[in-house]
Amino acid sequence: MQIPSTRSIRFPRGFLWGTATASHQVEGGNRWNDWWQLEQAGRLPYASGDACRHYELFEQDFDLVKSSAQNAHRLSIEWSRIEPAEGHWNVDAINHYVSVVRALRQRGIEPLLTLHHFSNPQWFAERGGWHASGAVGLFKRFVERVIPHLIGDVRLWLTINEPTVYVKRAYISGVWPPCAGRSPWKAVRALRNMMSAHRAAYAILHRARADVLVGFAHSTPWVVSCDADRVLDRLAAFARDFVLNRLPYRLLDWWRPSRVFDFVGVNYYTRSVTRWRLSGLAALVGAECREDHHGEPRSFNSLGWEIYPCGLRETLRRMARFGVPLIVTENGISTRDEQLRARFLQQHLRELALAVEEGLPILGYFYWTLYDNFEWTEGYESSFGLSAVDRLTQRRSPRPAAEAYMRICTDNSVTLENPTSIDS
Ligand code: FCB
Repeated sequence: MQIPSTRSIRFPRGFLWGTATASHQVEGGNRWNDWWQLEQAGRLPYASGDACRHYELFEQDFDLVKSSAQNAHRLSIEWSRIEPAEGHWNVDAINHYVSVVRALRQRGIEPLLTLHHFSNPQWFAERGGWHASGAVGLFKRFVERVIPHLIGDVRLWLTINEPTVYVKRAYISGVWPPCAGRSPWKAVRALRNMMSAHRAAYAILHRARADVLVGFAHSTPWVVSCDADRVLDRLAAFARDFVLNRLPYRLLDWWRPSRVFDFVGVNYYTRSVTRWRLSGLAALVGAECREDHHGEPRSFNSLGWEIYPCGLRETLRRMARFGVPLIVTENGISTRDEQLRARFLQQHLRELALAVEEGLPILGYFYWTLYDNFEWTEGYESSFGLSAVDRLTQRRSPRPAAEAYMRICTDNSVTLENPTSIDS
């Protein structure tokens, strides 16, 4: 017979508890960016339209964050609003984002600001986008222009969101803007430029304010080989892990080995079980195995991403080797099953708590996402939100997991209920 037992793990004082969003996914009406243009041209499966009208409703949204007991919030600024045409600065948009970060501060919520989250100004895309030679200079000019206005209110910065995911979808699978087919060479150049852009933004931010903490948000699937006894599977997993997880950091210190990140931003969603498959370029990094033959039943979210809570702790352990603090900048589930969402949160926060207990230097956790929003090529079909959003009335309705999360944020601790059976 199993004796139920509970124990709580307390988080360090000042631990950041929040949710994350991105401009194009929530603001609505981002008509000057490359996503919007291709959405309108029918080259993408869905159109963002009004999204969550967060550009107008941000005060109300931050009231929701506040009343949910979160003390931090991750969001991004939209380059295409600030520089809608090359070299033309929209002062109203800059002032808007100043009001946004102040609205957070007034509520006692710590902003974590992303400078680039997948969307680009249309003019930048027309100049060739991230693989073009001028990309880094153009991004640098934007950062130099906008930073003086925001730096006083923002201490925590993410330069670029998920460079590997961006490059993979934009240039390897070719399904994201520029929607111009596959090009491994462009992919390599774009990734290299994005890491240079990170380096440049890091320097600008540090020149502007001494005590900033700057990183980039990195998508970090937990990669394992499908069959550990098969050398080819192991090789494919090694290559996949290198390309997805390690390459951006290698690019950063390849030429100039100096520390250009103050924390590691970990976006953790899933495990990647990798199997060797002979098929063109992809053979290099193998293929995803989705079968149930690993001695355990596997479960997947509504987008087919495997739910694998202990990968979060493994990933944090691994990232801690960089010797800088860690922030979980995204973690969440797309599902319509609210029990599953609540269980996902509970299981991942349990891993987070155990990682804190192990002594890993974790500063914060941001659930993706505050409320259902525009999920790129999945549009409004997915459902990652702690709250639902009525697409007609824009009404936000907290889900059961939001309440569970609120309790954790309030207590600054996670209770491990019956630790031996929680995984079942
Ligand atoms: C991440 C993105 C974020 C959102 C979530 C579900 O890869 O950074 O914008 O799409 O996935």
